[in-house]
Amino acid sequence: MDYKREIAKAIKIEGVSEEEIYASIAVPPKRENGEYCLPCFKFSRSLRLSPVAIADKLKAEITLPACVESVESVSGYLNFKLNRSQFAYDSLCDILGRGETFSHKKSNGKTVVLDYSSVNIAKPFHIGHLLTTAIGGSLYRIYGYLGYKAVGINHLGDWGTQFGKLISAYKRWGNPEDVKKRGVQALTELYVRFHAEAENDPALDEEGRHYFKLIESGDKDATALFTWFKEITLSEVQTIYDRLGIAFDSYAGESFYNDKMTPVIDELKAKNLLTESDGALVVNLDDCDMPPCLILKKDGASLYATRDLAAAIYRQNTYAFDKCLYVVAYQQNLHFKQVFKVLEKMGKPWADKCVHVPFGMVSLEGGALSTRKGHVVLLKDVLDTAVEKANAVIAEKNPSLADKEKVAECVGTGAIVFSALSTARIKDMVFSYDKALSFEGETAPYLQYAHARCASILEKYGKSVKPTKEDGGYLCDDETVDVLSYLARFDAVVADAAEKYEPCVLARYLLDLAQAFNRFYIDHRVITEDERTTHARVLLTSAVKNVLKNGLSLLLIQAPEKM
Ligand code: ARG
Repeated sequence: MDYKREIAKAIKIEGVSEEEIYASIAVPPKRENGEYCLPCFKFSRSLRLSPVAIADKLKAEITLPACVESVESVSGYLNFKLNRSQFAYDSLCDILGRGETFSHKKSNGKTVVLDYSSVNIAKPFHIGHLLTTAIGGSLYRIYGYLGYKAVGINHLGDWGTQFGKLISAYKRWGNPEDVKKRGVQALTELYVRFHAEAENDPALDEEGRHYFKLIESGDKDATALFTWFKEITLSEVQTIYDRLGIAFDSYAGESFYNDKMTPVIDELKAKNLLTESDGALVVNLDDCDMPPCLILKKDGASLYATRDLAAAIYRQNTYAFDKCLYVVAYQQNLHFKQVFKVLEKMGKPWADKCVHVPFGMVSLEGGALSTRKGHVVLLKDVLDTAVEKANAVIAEKNPSLADKEKVAECVGTGAIVFSALSTARIKDMVFSYDKALSFEGETAPYLQYAHARCASILEKYGKSVKPTKEDGGYLCDDETVDVLSYLARFDAVVADAAEKYEPCVLARYLLDLAQAFNRFYIDHRVITEDERTTHARVLLTSAVKNVLKNGLSLLLIQAPEKM
């Protein structure tokens, strides 16, 4: 059911392909202008005609497809009004035919690798990780839905001299019970203490380096401790991933590439790309107006970029990706530009399939950037606070609700995730609990509530329904057609969100759909005395419910049946 396609096929413009026409067809901002339109301005130059004349000519020549009721030429636009009854029937069949849980589209044979969340071992998982985790997790689902094979990778920050320092600190001041009990928090404190004491005692740094060498050479004791620190960190973040419904296909992080960099360095040498600079080896990027990309330090140690080169090559060899997305803060813009450029210089034909998907910074309203626990705001605390607040709202508004705890968890975490996903990625975001949790604003709870209201209408009606041609005739008023037009656009919107790497496109759409359904609901009752009307509107409600639920799920948000 692609009305846009039907319309594009019917329009014939000399020298312009159907694809181009298809891409040009838009939705008119004013509803009285119909459901679709073709702005004719862009064809003006090549056809040597005014947009008005083009629209007039096209109107005169077109043979209308069955789904279109009428076409008008208005100030350079060709406006299409759909056959509403047919449109309603087709849209409902399409949406309701998918069942309650939409399955993924047929495989398109393409693979997209998503590098996201990518936590650092023995470091707190703080609010700064919210965006990469939410955006990456959502894009993972979006691409999966569209028929891609999505590969989620948590490129762990699990290499570097800091781990030698951590071992040294642990040996000096740590105790196993405390680390077991307080996990990453205890490790972070050890690390902080190490730095404070190293200021007055340079021997500490030497000791840190010593332990790092032991990790590098695979010493049993040092490796066991390091592995333990890793497990502690991962099990802590896992509880957050579980709450957000996020999963990874691989946790191959920086240390995974230890034995995979030599071939890369050899290749760089063979291709004459390495130059010496102060004893270090770098790839000179003067010709691209970038600082050199550091490959090996003076002491022979590899760098973050070296590991990313090895990782990109490994990923292409392993997954043959059609796209490799790096969902990482914009602070790393230069890093990724350099890495991708080096891949290009190495002659990797797939270098341009690597894409940095940057995002802005998150801060809390009021600038409160410290918690009881330290200097950073832990993501866990943010989720807990939101759930606590959701609990309080439920206790006040609907104290007899079943499964209160579970609903509060969905609403609280949903509110946080939605606030991360509903603004354009690149914008810095100031986060407010009250705004995120408001039932009236543009929030997850608003959408979840709209979904639950649909559920309660359907429950009240109590019978299952199936669309018939006749139903279409009862769904032709303006408010209903608005809702239907949104429903019909779901897949296109998801595809657009994927293409732009912007889950906010989908978030915006769901808000628009819910608002359109609200307008419908203000003017019309669903369950009326007239059985035919009721039947048709119950179908509409059911389709809205399913699109909200599945759309939210692509944004990592659950929609409870009752709120
Ligand atoms: N662990 C890094 C950080 O916290 C992010 C890693 C991103 N992925 C990558 N392949 N470089 O900054």
